[in-house]
Amino acid sequence: MQQTKFSSDPDLLLAYEVALAAGKSLLERPAVLDLDAKSTPTDIVTQMDKSAEALIVEALVNARPNDGLLGEEGAQRDAASGRTWIIDPIDGTINYLYELPFWCVSIGLHTSDGQGLVGVVHAPALDTTWLAAKNQGAWIIERGHHRPIQVSDQSDLAMSLMGTGFGYSSARRTSQARVLNSILPNVRDIRRLGSCALDLCLVAQGVLDGYYERGVHAWDHAAGSVIAREAGALIGGLRGQGEGNEMLVATNPYIYDELIALLELAQADQDDI
Ligand code: IPD
Ligand code: CA
Repeated sequence: MQQTKFSSDPDLLLAYEVALAAGKSLLERPAVLDLDAKSTPTDIVTQMDKSAEALIVEALVNARPNDGLLGEEGAQRDAASGRTWIIDPIDGTINYLYELPFWCVSIGLHTSDGQGLVGVVHAPALDTTWLAAKNQGAWIIERGHHRPIQVSDQSDLAMSLMGTGFGYSSARRTSQARVLNSILPNVRDIRRLGSCALDLCLVAQGVLDGYYERGVHAWDHAAGSVIAREAGALIGGLRGQGEGNEMLVATNPYIYDELIALLELAQADQDDI
């Protein structure tokens, strides 16, 4: 078990240890990546996504046999304990493919009624890990040094740096471009980094002031949402809904309502017909 100075939560330490092992395996990149298309020809999975998920699943099943599992690459196991590990073996697969460093291993632990307990997001190519456990706070570990993190204090939306992401289908992107047209003139600038989990961690760290995206899946945000909330972020959807596939908005507390109002006005939770 990893020794850490910041937390003794056994689930957090387990997720951290497993994420480090998966990250190490992903850095051993083969000469050729086998690409299989998923929802569209540009939405791909590689043998590395699959082998990393298998490694994570084996470790978690051995350590927590009664917990459930949900993984982007197909892992599915019912929870006898009322707790489920939600796994994205590589969030930012396109970045991984193109050798851009913004990809990560994401492991979250949630109760069956949707409460986030633990989140670990490990970005091996950045040598950085973000971690949090419910009611214990959030931390970053950069090149071996850890420190607590919190969201930014930017209260002016017009001066806010905003992350977002785009889905894989052309139809979804058409509506996302329409929404971008409404948001971009009202913020400092937009970043599209290519990993929902990392976007949430950057909000947690105060590097981004906010992030929104339509079409994210549970494995994209299960870990990052625990980390961002523990760092002080507000997270939700539009029109009083919780965060989910329709929309996820995560910001510091000061710009949240204004961004939600803009996204609602832009009907950001709806696709174009
Ligand atoms: C994707 C990334 C991307 C987001 C997409 C996700 P993947 O996950 O998080 O930033 O815009 O919505 O599907 O495919 O790299 O695991
Ligand atoms: Ca993902």
